[in-house]
Amino acid sequence: MAKKSNKQWLHSQNKDQYVKQARESHYRSRAIYKLQEINQKDELIKSNSCVVDLGSAPGSWSQYASEQVKANGRVISVDILPMEPIERVLFILGNFTDEVVQKECIKHIGKQDADLVISDMAPNLTGIRITDQARSLTLAELVYDFCHHVLKPGGDLVIKLFEGTGTDEYRRLLKERFAKVVTRKPQASRNQSREFYVLARSYRLR
Ligand SMILES: C[S@@+](CC[C@H](N)C(=O)[O-])C[C@H]1O[C@@H](n2cnc3c(N)ncnc32)[C@H](O)[C@@H]1O
Repeated sequence: MAKKSNKQWLHSQNKDQYVKQARESHYRSRAIYKLQEINQKDELIKSNSCVVDLGSAPGSWSQYASEQVKANGRVISVDILPMEPIERVLFILGNFTDEVVQKECIKHIGKQDADLVISDMAPNLTGIRITDQARSLTLAELVYDFCHHVLKPGGDLVIKLFEGTGTDEYRRLLKERFAKVVTRKPQASRNQSREFYVLARSYRLR
């Protein structure tokens, strides 16, 4: 598919109901409505939850999570890009693939202390489908390994994937340690986009 020009992109952004809604509600991105739809359907975030947001910038998922957890909960977010501060959100600037950054996250979260890991991370796209898919799955595998350090037994994971080779294998991998693995394609996720979310519920320790 040909890449959209900046003008076309601006035009579609201005027409997009979720962009308008996010602007009016002071959310930093239309992505909020993807997490909101999943959370409303699956009731993931409780008022005392500890939520870990991977690939959090510009911050709409973290904004939403911090509103849902209220004063008793915690949100720990990480991104390779800077993110403007959000009340009750602890932000770690760094590349998630870097072991030092993961250790820093684990230090703040505490071992096996997270109720929910949400990952909206996507690698920088090259436009070469096979390369982009491989990079996305490599990131997803790192997220799965990271869950072993931070998720409480019974904890959940929401992760963005792209349709293509390797996603069935990834789902099978998740099934080894989560009781239930389902797919979600929220309405705010554009039909023409290959992205979808996998929700893995009820993590179990070995
Ligand atoms: C689609 S955006 C996330 C939007 C976010 N959920 C929101 O609601 O504002 C994906 C983010 O993942 C981040 N990201 C991609 N690879 C990363 C990595 N290796 N480490 C940390 N962040 C990464 C990007 O910098 C980008 O900000």
